[in-house]
Amino acid sequence: MRPLFLAVLVSALLSASVPAWPAEIEPLPALPPIPADNSMTPQKIELGKMLFFDPRLSGSKWISCATCHNPAMGYTDRLPRALGHAMSEGPRNTPTILNAAFIKAQFWDGRADGLEAQALGPIQADVEMKQTLTQMVNNLKQVPEYVTRFKEVFGETDPITPGNIAKAIATFERTLITPDSPFDRYLRGDKLALSRDAREGYRLFQEKGCTACHNGPVLSDGNFHHIKVPGSVDEGRFKVTKNPADLSAFRTPTLRNVELTAPYFNNGSVNTLEGAVVVMGNEALNTNISRKDAVLIADFLRSLTGTMPKFDYPDLPYTRY
Ligand code: HEC
Ligand code: HEC
Repeated sequence: MRPLFLAVLVSALLSASVPAWPAEIEPLPALPPIPADNSMTPQKIELGKMLFFDPRLSGSKWISCATCHNPAMGYTDRLPRALGHAMSEGPRNTPTILNAAFIKAQFWDGRADGLEAQALGPIQADVEMKQTLTQMVNNLKQVPEYVTRFKEVFGETDPITPGNIAKAIATFERTLITPDSPFDRYLRGDKLALSRDAREGYRLFQEKGCTACHNGPVLSDGNFHHIKVPGSVDEGRFKVTKNPADLSAFRTPTLRNVELTAPYFNNGSVNTLEGAVVVMGNEALNTNISRKDAVLIADFLRSLTGTMPKFDYPDLPYTRY
């Protein structure tokens, strides 16, 4: 009894005196979380990939998910704010969907809970694909190959439904992950995977306190923070919760592959990584980050670019309707 009591007392005292363990960045796991009701099968991934690239999901039959989440550009459009239906400009910057599968709250304001819930949003949004779910389902039913593939994947009598379309797209998105970046190799023990400058940048990133929000496998805490980025007029999370405390709060974005996804922030207001680092210092941490330190931190951030997903582009069936 006695030694046990002592051990408990000592550990209680220690945990009271030691400050909270600093938030850690973790290597990217090989697989993201997969929901119990949406298993990953090769056929479903293939179908989701077709839908992702198929502009016939849009009202104009001209815009696909890949129009804005372009695989050749880090799954973004590299525009300050997205251009959608009839070239109308939306209010926000297109985030990458690489590794989005590791984050629960989707969109800058977290209004969709997971990839399945997210997928039908852009299809219906007026400034994105401007299509009704009924019309989209009717259109896909005209394509015999889709009818066969949906039957194969979902085994239902009437499987072309908005819910199954979302499930297939989300399944494809779960394959869009970028493991094995130089930084992952460094975390696994290969100290030479990072240049001296990137290592110094990593030290500064931790020392300045960036890891308070940019932590975990994708360097996002999945939480909402109010950061005054240049020119932002967006109500952010407030639009979802109507809680005044959430006014202009946005979900911490992933920093994986961030060198590929400029311009930065919810409104795409900053063009360079170094510039974004300086804004973060001022607005998130109330610290002035020198130009020299910003360059080193940006060097570290560039080490977060991983191996891009490799796949064959789908051959979309040609069917007029
Ligand atoms: C017109 C450009 C455009 C099209 C087309 C588009 N998106 Fe997006 N996507 C965006 C923008 C802009 C946002 C951020 C919107 C917001 O936060 O309010 C976004 C956000 C997302 C996110 C959330 C990522 C995150 O980090 O929160 C996912 C996932 C996503 N889109 C997938 C898709 C899928 C799947 C499709 C096709 C069904 C699609 N997008 C079509 C522009 C587009
Ligand atoms: C209090 C939480 C918090 C801290 C601390 C923080 N960030 Fe951020 N970071 C965010 C949020 C939230 C955004 C999105 C802001 C927006 O667009 O409105 C963001 C955006 C970014 C972006 C732009 C990413 C993109 O895709 O647009 C970069 C780069 C970045 N942070 C780097 C850093 C660095 C470097 C530090 C430390 C100097 C840091 N952050 C500290 C929460 C934080």
